[in-house]
Amino acid sequence: MPAGSSRVSDSPRTTADPVIAFEPLNTEERVRIIDLQPDLGDLHAEAIAGLRSADKHLPCKYFYDALGARLFEVITELPEYYPTRTELGIMSRSVRQMANVIGSHATLVEFGSGVGLKTRKLLDALIEPAGCVLIDISRGALEASAVELAERYGNMEVIAVCADYTQPLRLPRPRRPSARTVAYFPGSTIGNFTHDEAVRFLERVADLVGRGGGLLVGIDRKKDRSVVERAYNDALGVTAAFNLNILRRLNETGADFDLGAFRHHAPYVEAEGRIEMRLISEVAQTVQIGDATVDFDAGEHIVTEHSHKYDLGQFEEMARQAGFRLTNHWSDERDWFSVCFLEVGGA
Ligand code: AVJ
Repeated sequence: MPAGSSRVSDSPRTTADPVIAFEPLNTEERVRIIDLQPDLGDLHAEAIAGLRSADKHLPCKYFYDALGARLFEVITELPEYYPTRTELGIMSRSVRQMANVIGSHATLVEFGSGVGLKTRKLLDALIEPAGCVLIDISRGALEASAVELAERYGNMEVIAVCADYTQPLRLPRPRRPSARTVAYFPGSTIGNFTHDEAVRFLERVADLVGRGGGLLVGIDRKKDRSVVERAYNDALGVTAAFNLNILRRLNETGADFDLGAFRHHAPYVEAEGRIEMRLISEVAQTVQIGDATVDFDAGEHIVTEHSHKYDLGQFEEMARQAGFRLTNHWSDERDWFSVCFLEVGGA
């Protein structure tokens, strides 16, 4: 049985009459950028490997060039795409309870650049955070958002780490004493991993935040398949454009995909509990990718992304396998989305 959230008090907040526990920071102390020089990956090489395997696939991380990031922004505004809106509603309603569960003087670790509305909601509610560590692979986006965050939260240290968060890494410590480290992974981005990858990712997060640490994570729940399928096959075709954009990017690196000869389709695969973003070859064709060629049968598809939908009990079990205990969760009234708080250890 997953733990409920009813026992959490919504009231005590110490920031109403601010207790200044920390000395103010000087400007140099407010932002730090640590570049671990992550391997940026090689779209071209990974594409050839993925398209030459028996189940043709492309890595979903390549959706997000400048155009892809803008298309995703539009997706989050589509009437059919419920996850972003639903998660934001949960944050608006329950972020004070979340802040109370996290407790005061925590160090927040955000996977991603941290400028999102959800992160700001969380930071606004946190009680005297010791600091905020942003981890992102893209140095440009990271620097911009670190400065933006430091300006917005004048009394909080921001440490930006340019790194690949799917790889092992050690966290820098903020200057101020930290009560615990809590990571934040919103957006149901964890759903992009397969079951085993997600458990391994959770293990690494447990290791990263250490004893007493926690993880606040958004998960998209299992629901009526028609609701889910509409969210990934929208009437305006924005998700189709977002999906095809990966082929457009490949063409920039010397491939010759005919974007008109591939069709977007994203079925919910019940047995796997996930949406599969697919690009279906409309005809038999051969595509050139640099020096390599890839043959497609008519109707054959490329899988570009998995988006897993979870049962609360199933997710609690995955967390347990990774060394976490699910202590609290907050959901919308339809149970379409949940924000879960996981704590390291405690059996
Ligand atoms: C950003 C991974 C959460 O899986 O719903 C949206 C990406 N793909 N529409 C998701 C996405 C197609 C999204 N995540």
